[in-house]
Amino acid sequence: MSGPELATERLLLRRWRKDDREAFAALNADARVMEHFPGCLSSVQSRDLLGRIEQHFERHGFGLWALERRDVPGAIGFTGLSVPDFEAAFMPCVEIGWRLAFEHWGRGYASEAARAAVDFAFAELGLPQLVSFTVPANARSLAVMRRLGMRLDDPRGFEHPALPPGHALRRHLLFRLARPDPGAVH
Ligand SMILES: CC(C)(COP(=O)(O)OP(=O)(O)OC[C@H]1O[C@@H](n2cnc3c(N)ncnc32)[C@H](O)[C@@H]1OP(=O)(O)O)[C@@H](O)C(=O)NCCC(=O)NCCS
Repeated sequence: MSGPELATERLLLRRWRKDDREAFAALNADARVMEHFPGCLSSVQSRDLLGRIEQHFERHGFGLWALERRDVPGAIGFTGLSVPDFEAAFMPCVEIGWRLAFEHWGRGYASEAARAAVDFAFAELGLPQLVSFTVPANARSLAVMRRLGMRLDDPRGFEHPALPPGHALRRHLLFRLARPDPGAVH
């Protein structure tokens, strides 16, 4: 299954190509981009992650799309949907996520792409809800969640099981977005 591609006013959300590998590795090797993650990724780790992203597309028909500006060729990061690979009280779920090269922050690209992914999740996949999560310090990511209309679940957050107890990044905040009720009056 190749999976659909999405387009917005300024952006394309598309499947990854071999020639994106370098940009993807540079994204994950940038300490500014990875500030709220346990560490930067080596080029081998980035290659493995891209392999897992592609496997996810094959398995589910959706995933973390490469994000490309319509006016400049080349991937500037990703935005998309993924099924988390860890156990938590809020599973099963589909997560919406984003990661952009630092020079493309502050232009509304993540929110624009995420809105297209939200529409796809509800209108095409028929999902009942989406979740997103990050550490409390990741203000930019939290701002994207709020711009999408996502609501904070439990202010106490949850402990991310991939990190050891006591790790500074273990506590995460969970946000949820329910599919709009088509009968609702606005
Ligand atoms: C999280 C991340 C994607 C957010 O990127 P972002 O550019 O801040 O988010 P948006 O696309 O919503 O852009 C909003 C900003 O663009 C500005 N903007 C400029 N032109 C705009 C336009 N045409 N339309 C909308 N917003 C525009 C907004 O005013 C806002 O600026 P501000 O944050 O200075 O107030 C980015 O910081 C990132 O990649 N972080 C590292 C990875 C990460 O932590 N991912 C999340 C892990 S859970």
